[in-house]
Amino acid sequence: MKGITIPALASLLLSTTVTGLPGFSQSKFNHGKRDYGYKVNWGDFPFPYFDEKLPLFSLGDTVQFPPELLAEIFKTAAPGVEVKNQTVNSSSFFYDGDRLTAFFDKNTGETSVFPRLELLKPAASISGNISRYLKDLRIFPEDDTIPSIVIGSNLLGSRKEKDAVVSNPAIYLKESLIQRSINHGNQRSTVCGPGTKASFSFGSDGAIKALSHRWRSARNLGSALSPMPQDKVRQAITDQLAAANITNATVTSVDLCFYDSGYKYIQPVYRYNATVSHPSGVADNLVVGYIPVSGKAPEALPNLNPPVDQPQPSAAGINPHPTPNNITRRQEAPVTVGRYAMSNDIFSPQIVVDENSLWSGLSLAALIAGGFFSFPEFINSQYYWDEPFIYEANNRQFANGVNFAFTEGHGNVHLFTTNETEPNWGVVNIADIPPTGFGPGSDGALAYWIIRACRTLSTPADYSTADFNQAFDVWWPVFNGLHAVMGYRSDAQVFDNEIGAVGFRIGLGAGVVFAWLEAARGGGKTSAMTVCGHTDDTIFQRQNLGRPGCLQEWWYD
Ligand SMILES: *[C@@H]1O[C@H](CO)[C@@H](O)[C@H](O)[C@H]1NC(C)=O
Ligand SMILES: *[C@@H]1O[C@H](CO)[C@@H](O)[C@H](O)[C@H]1NC(C)=O
Ligand SMILES: *[C@@H]1O[C@H](CO)[C@@H](O)[C@H](O)[C@H]1NC(C)=O
Ligand SMILES: *[C@@H]1O[C@H](CO)[C@@H](O)[C@H](O)[C@H]1NC(C)=O
Ligand SMILES: *[C@@H]1O[C@H](CO)[C@@H](O)[C@H](O)[C@H]1NC(C)=O
Ligand SMILES: *[C@@H]1O[C@H](CO)[C@@H](O)[C@H](O)[C@H]1NC(C)=O
Ligand SMILES: *[C@@H]1O[C@H](CO)[C@@H](O)[C@H](O)[C@H]1NC(C)=O
Ligand SMILES: *[C@@H]1O[C@H](CO)[C@@H](O)[C@H](O)[C@H]1NC(C)=O
Repeated sequence: MKGITIPALASLLLSTTVTGLPGFSQSKFNHGKRDYGYKVNWGDFPFPYFDEKLPLFSLGDTVQFPPELLAEIFKTAAPGVEVKNQTVNSSSFFYDGDRLTAFFDKNTGETSVFPRLELLKPAASISGNISRYLKDLRIFPEDDTIPSIVIGSNLLGSRKEKDAVVSNPAIYLKESLIQRSINHGNQRSTVCGPGTKASFSFGSDGAIKALSHRWRSARNLGSALSPMPQDKVRQAITDQLAAANITNATVTSVDLCFYDSGYKYIQPVYRYNATVSHPSGVADNLVVGYIPVSGKAPEALPNLNPPVDQPQPSAAGINPHPTPNNITRRQEAPVTVGRYAMSNDIFSPQIVVDENSLWSGLSLAALIAGGFFSFPEFINSQYYWDEPFIYEANNRQFANGVNFAFTEGHGNVHLFTTNETEPNWGVVNIADIPPTGFGPGSDGALAYWIIRACRTLSTPADYSTADFNQAFDVWWPVFNGLHAVMGYRSDAQVFDNEIGAVGFRIGLGAGVVFAWLEAARGGGKTSAMTVCGHTDDTIFQRQNLGRPGCLQEWWYD
């Protein structure tokens, strides 16, 4: 029984310690909020089991991606573009004019290179070979972990000229990943968590166009941890979900991974996936949680509970800051930001975490970039509990009254929800947005809109060829000066803690669309609808694009 998974034992525990069949526990769901046994449903999956101790690793030096290789990648990623290297507190920020093309963050050791999506050629297939990077000990030093090459995601795109047919989805970027693994007993498990990142994306010319690298060498400390028995793991998962007030969850998988925090340790953890279902019409949410294998974490793991005393949205009032519209350059006016959080939902506390993280990311970026550019930055114009009138009857004062709107709630194809105590959870159908649309063309100011909700931005890949138009049709009336709308095409995770990174990239002046697509995709499959030719626009470009003649959609597969 050494280190193998035992499905039979998992089912046995399922029927003894929990409730019996998943359907049964479902029907008992309403009996009492504090009845833990009925709060969580268990899917039928193999539950990992270990009777050997599991190793703990300490993190060593930060591995900095070699500057000379970075310089080489800049040349192929955007030929002929002069990149200027700016340094703050030993972190490097690379700019093409006022557009951020890459950065090296000294605090985390992370290097990110952003592509110019408008320069990429679509292709039916792309190949790229990263074995030369894998072998480079300056990037992946030898240590007690095992790096290997795995296939990543493709970034696809499709466009529609008004009244023409939708172009067939084509690949713009193909990603190769270095996966990091750990051997224990006679098994191998992968490293998870934010501390290990190694993603290389190739364009159709076979050159690297985007990159993300974060890596520290790791040493096996020998001080092994004793895994808890399965019933204790189940109880810990149940308790964690209950403590976060997450009801109606079905745990769909539990596996072992080694969590790299990026700070002190790589520690073995049980990682679970849970699906949270809602009444019909609203897509499921995913929750990923971590339980320390021995019950006691050597270093804190992500917590499902929001920090206490975080700033809360207020009830929607009238926008006190008049927002200028049709702004072309960053120095002309600060960017006004509106944030809207779904209220009265079990996930509202976490939605508020994301709303605050976006602002923290923007603020940190403003502090850094303030040293390179002298210009006004971001204004926290609106931070409100969401309501349908923010997008519908009163949009001119609310979502369409700021340059950058961030909406978070539940969702489904072409809709999102705002307030759970309202009928239909205060749903906003994209089709119900007033036909004057959003942006300076409607006398509004909105240039960029992120809707962090499940499935709102479906893509051609989500329809049959005959129905490709459905991905575009509903958005034409919305674009009236607007540059881009971003969201997910799939179900999305709550608790992924990625929105700060999205805000940081956008605030530094990276292309808004790629910043969202790339930095938010741990939470689900990201997608974005943009005006053709404006995919690489930065948050500082808010000029009136009027009614578009062509829309381009982007998504990860
Ligand atoms: C950017 O500047 C910093 C500080 O001068 C330097 O250490 C680093 O090597 C430079 N990076 C590149 C890619 O030129
Ligand atoms: C990748 O390149 C290496 C040489 O650097 C070569 O040995 C290997 O076969 C290539 N792999 C693929 C899949 O082409
Ligand atoms: C759970 O709900 C209770 C009662 O509404 C609330 O006091 C508590 O803060 C919530 N906990 C979390 C983690 O959201
Ligand atoms: C857990 O969910 C994530 C996100 O959907 C998925 O990528 C992963 O494969 C799932 N894990 C398991 C073990 O099913
Ligand atoms: C609970 O989940 C089930 C599906 O698993 C769904 O049909 C039901 O509507 C959910 N109930 C609530 C109150 O969200
Ligand atoms: C927006 O500003 C640009 C550049 O300043 C100008 O050319 C254009 O006419 C303006 N458009 C509108 C609708 O005001
Ligand atoms: C640079 O470091 C100093 C000292 O730690 C700190 O006060 C300052 O805020 C930092 N600057 C930026 C832009 O992060
Ligand atoms: C949500 O909707 C309810 C019912 O209409 C309303 O009383 C409440 O003010 C709304 N907003 C918030 C933040 O609860």
